[in-house]
Amino acid sequence: MASGSSYAQQVRARRSFAIISHPDAGKTTLTEKLLLFSGAIQIAGSVKARKASRHATSDWMEIEKQRGISVASSVMQMLYRDHVINLLDTPGHKDFSEDTYRVLTAVDSALMVIDAANGVEAQTRRLIEVCRQRDTPIITFVNKMDREVREPLDILDEVERELGMPCVPMTWPVGQGKSFGGIINLRTRAMTVFEAGSERRPQDFETIALTEAGALRARFGSEFDAALESMELATGASPAWDHEAFLAGRQTPVFFGSGVNNFGVMEVLDALVDLAPPPRPRVSTMTVNRQTVERTVQPDEETFSGVVFKVQANMDANHRDRIAFVRVASGRYAPGMKLKVQRTGKELRPTSVVTFMSQRREAVEEAYAGDIIGFTTHGGVQLGDTITDGATLQYTGLPFFAPELFMTVVLKNPLRTKQLQQGLAQLGEEGAIQVFKPDAGGAMLLGAVGQLQFEVVQHRLKAEYDADVRLEGCQYTGARWITADTPQDLRTFTDTYPLRMAHDAANALAYLCTSPYDVRLAQERFPKIHFHPLREHA
Ligand code: G4P
Repeated sequence: MASGSSYAQQVRARRSFAIISHPDAGKTTLTEKLLLFSGAIQIAGSVKARKASRHATSDWMEIEKQRGISVASSVMQMLYRDHVINLLDTPGHKDFSEDTYRVLTAVDSALMVIDAANGVEAQTRRLIEVCRQRDTPIITFVNKMDREVREPLDILDEVERELGMPCVPMTWPVGQGKSFGGIINLRTRAMTVFEAGSERRPQDFETIALTEAGALRARFGSEFDAALESMELATGASPAWDHEAFLAGRQTPVFFGSGVNNFGVMEVLDALVDLAPPPRPRVSTMTVNRQTVERTVQPDEETFSGVVFKVQANMDANHRDRIAFVRVASGRYAPGMKLKVQRTGKELRPTSVVTFMSQRREAVEEAYAGDIIGFTTHGGVQLGDTITDGATLQYTGLPFFAPELFMTVVLKNPLRTKQLQQGLAQLGEEGAIQVFKPDAGGAMLLGAVGQLQFEVVQHRLKAEYDADVRLEGCQYTGARWITADTPQDLRTFTDTYPLRMAHDAANALAYLCTSPYDVRLAQERFPKIHFHPLREHA
């Protein structure tokens, strides 16, 4: 996309999507092929390098590796058919699902990769839930058709059930495994013939029109007839393609292929351009003199604004700088621009601003709505922060989930208290863990959604802040952020449960639970108190 064209044109030419899947379904392979086909990378295998570290165990090296690698490759930008496509990876390990949820707030659509033998697996199911909550349009890619897998009708059925929305097949497989003959493109009514090999380019595949049925039958035998039959059944059972329904998260287009063989991938890349939505308007919500002021911000308006959806510490423990990943919501970023952090009203002075071109970070020249830019900062930026060119805007919607696991932090060397506090504050800001300070005093509490988060934090406190800590179990099993209709109601509640009150890193008040019944009982006793399992950054 040529620079200098109008903001509206730039926005129309942008696609930002997250790629989601259960580990091993083929996400890395597909990502690599998309980059390869768009020309963003030259050599297959460069994304794969991170593969080894993906199934993070509690091995420190692995975690460190994953962290470092994810800085480099969690956001990738490519150019294809005059479009700027931003691809956001989502962490594979379930213990980091909070990160994944936040990434999903920064995209306009999602590409779901499914292993055709395994169907919709556990991790995918969780991700689907988030997409559904946000009505994120989902494109489905059924991978590994070159293996002995399930019947396509069966897979569609399962996707429909799990997604709770109809599937509309865009391509249809002829055979599978050893007899995988290729895919029929339902729109062009032509069959692309499968050939194994990872070096192939899309133009290398042979295409035969369905009108040549005789030739196809002679070549693919009963597989071809069976495919036509099941294709008829599938299209008969699914609704007609409805672009608006897809954009509203009520229909998913389905593609079949084999990532490792570069097969069926171009169709997905084309779908991202032709079907996936460009950036949409966002609502800014502010409280001014106790009044809620809402404003819909158009992605192509001049005001620059964006949201920090991820904060990542640099790998080098000696440098405390961090990268704040900002999804641009409106306007244009250009180097040297003055930026303001809405929460503090302070000017943000990044040491550098980068964009993410597949494997490299580059100084950003300009960025528009939908793009992701990274600010290198030394602090002052938190997850969920709204950044603007000075305009007064506030986006919400970045979720924090009530932790389900708690530990108390005990410092081994009390002389390192300052370092511990600094470390916890920064790790809390990054969203690596949630930190709660009990109102009644006592040890700091760490709250997590996944066990591995504790291990990472303990390790990083030592490695980066020289604070050696012991983590001990505690009686808490959950937390709810609380608000009340009136300050008096809140006061009565906090006075009743003084030992259960805590403030988190963003100074939000929370009620700590010791059993699953706690909230219900407290709610019955105090109907005017609101218990929130999810906090959106405000
Ligand atoms: P992930 O990121 O979702 O975890 O999956 P990844 O792409 O790493 O793929 C997981 C495994 O599945 C890899 O094999 C990969 O080669 C294989 N794979 C991906 N797409 C296809 C496909 O279309 N057909 C077949 N048959 N296999 C596919 P691996 O043995 O774990 O790694 P490798 O030794 O092949 O690199």
